Amino acid sequence: MTANTKPKFYLTTPIYYVNARPHLGHTYTTVVADTIARHKKMCGYDVIFLTGTDEHGQKVERAAKAAGVTPQEFADRISAEYRALWQELDLPFDRFIRTTEPRHERAVQMLCRKAQDRGYIYKGGYEGQYCVFDEMYVDEPLPGNLCPECKRPTERVREENYFFKLSAFQDRLLELYEKQPDFVQPETRRNEVLAFVRGGLRDLSISRTSFKWGIPFPADEKHIFYVWYDALTSYMTGVGYADDEVQFERYWPADLHLVGKEILRFHAVYWPAFLMAADEPLPKRIFAHGWWLFADEKMSKSRGNMQYPQPIARVLGVDALRYFLLREMVFGQDGNFSRDALLTRYNADLANGLGNLASRTLTMIQTYLGGRVPARNPNEENDRDREVAALKETVCEEVSGYYDSYDFSRVLDSIWGLIAEVDKYLVEFQPWVLVKEKSKWGRLETVLYTAYDVLSAVVCLTHPVIPHATQKIWEQLGHSTKLETQSLSQAWWKEHKHPFQIGASEAVFPRVDKKEAFERIEAMEDEIRNPAAAHVAAAGAGAGSPSGSPASPAAPASNKIGIEDFAKVEMRVGVVKSAERVAGADKLLKLLVDIGDEVRQVVAGIAVAYTPEEVIGKKVVVVANLAPRKLRGVESNGMIVAASTGPDGKPVLCTFTEDVPPGARLK
Ligand code: MSP
Repeated sequence: MTANTKPKFYLTTPIYYVNARPHLGHTYTTVVADTIARHKKMCGYDVIFLTGTDEHGQKVERAAKAAGVTPQEFADRISAEYRALWQELDLPFDRFIRTTEPRHERAVQMLCRKAQDRGYIYKGGYEGQYCVFDEMYVDEPLPGNLCPECKRPTERVREENYFFKLSAFQDRLLELYEKQPDFVQPETRRNEVLAFVRGGLRDLSISRTSFKWGIPFPADEKHIFYVWYDALTSYMTGVGYADDEVQFERYWPADLHLVGKEILRFHAVYWPAFLMAADEPLPKRIFAHGWWLFADEKMSKSRGNMQYPQPIARVLGVDALRYFLLREMVFGQDGNFSRDALLTRYNADLANGLGNLASRTLTMIQTYLGGRVPARNPNEENDRDREVAALKETVCEEVSGYYDSYDFSRVLDSIWGLIAEVDKYLVEFQPWVLVKEKSKWGRLETVLYTAYDVLSAVVCLTHPVIPHATQKIWEQLGHSTKLETQSLSQAWWKEHKHPFQIGASEAVFPRVDKKEAFERIEAMEDEIRNPAAAHVAAAGAGAGSPSGSPASPAAPASNKIGIEDFAKVEMRVGVVKSAERVAGADKLLKLLVDIGDEVRQVVAGIAVAYTPEEVIGKKVVVVANLAPRKLRGVESNGMIVAASTGPDGKPVLCTFTEDVPPGARLK
């Protein structure tokens, strides 16, 4: 075996929680990571791209309990969904780490022991508020004991824990941010981290005893690790920590951790401190990107605005999804997702832009030159040809810088500027006119050579973002190689030997009818979000309806329902965490209800019977899979079950006399 002489590049996505299914937000980070991985490979790096699932913690334990399965079964199911999705979207990670793997347990314990040996871990008492949703201790809750991050109610915890001496690292962390200004990116996020650390650091509790679903503490099994200590260490486990020294030496430290902005503090403050305490090398860079928003709100299960990537990929193709995600959002900032913008970009940039340039160039070479790409002929070149060729060089250079700074929207802007320029150039010189006069065939060859040459560069440069379409165009351009093996740094097209023969051309991005595509995506989204409802709708559509238009649902055979109908209603035990009146509505209370794996906002018509104070702390029954709706402008995600005592009678809440955990399902 020969030694790998390539420089290495190790990058990671966050490892995703298994309490919820993968959605477009998770897909975004994974697509970015995959794009960087593909780009680095084309630049000659030996790349390792890690992703995985974060499977421990109270949130997962509760979600599993509510689903009536063990935490391991629950984790197995969702972790498999993640893998299946990455496979469907062709995101070929090199490592997939699950925090329930035995090798990971060894790694976490080893990192901790090293810090313990160096005196950075001690036992102490903790009493305070804890946010289960964010899995973090909350030193300064908002009024009503709400978490300042997610605004959900926090819980009081009191326990004897192991503490990490985070306070000992304030100066070293500040020195790190100072000496390596690009350790945290982008700059605005770096400033937030600086301000946080300058404000002083308190020691951090890194073990729990109040629940069981976690990695046992070394030599004190009553304690399990705090889920973030466990999760962050997975970045090391993935490349062999405590398992494979040679591999670990080669790939650690990570060159890049990609994270969403909400988990930056864990990565930019806690993680380097954990590593410093164990005397392990620090990652080189942490990049915190923004959020995909939907009508200016973050995507979340409780808001009912989850978007899934599969429908887009199935209707428009994986590349269209990737292109949109990287083009539309400035990496590092928030972006608004809209299906309309997606479809507009698809038709304008992919079908009419790149797709059209490829098909018209190839068709003209086929028809006018018998499919033979001519060699460059400087004698036939004029200033305009040289200008277009020079622009290509400039774009290649500029794009390489944008890729290196992860500025994907600029990468694509710049390339699409070049595409527009070649379109203009073709219209200026009109090959379809040149072909008519033999004396102009020299010019014809030069114009088509120039278009072909730029198209080749465009295809290479865009490959990391839209790998499938570019490979197809590459083959149509007459190559039999894999585009991913092309070196971007050596600008292959400069040395390429013409003439040669092109392949058959075929549209890579067929134009779509916006309305029809919109509806197909929407229908698939609904089906993913709510399989039961989609099932009813499908059953309701008449069999003899070839146009696919919905027919009226068949009349029910009787007023009895089958057990399968009842099973569609997801009823769960909820604990009311907070309650307030809805302004201008006498009957409505706005409640925050803990249903185990999440806290829901539900608006209930019970204000005539209950004051807000009376319902706080009550265990109620929540219909959890009701589509969200707005009552007096306030969003309600679910319904509270109450007995109705006649038109003028007061509603009576359905509750429990025996102890039941929040989230337990009613069957
Ligand atoms: N398990 C932790 C991470 C531990 S890493 C050692 C976690 N998991 S998560 O499932 O909640 O995933 C959060 C990540 O998913 C974000 O940091 C981001 O990368 C991605 N996104 C989730 N929703 C998103 C958007 N709406 N928009 C963009 N990215 C989003 O946190």
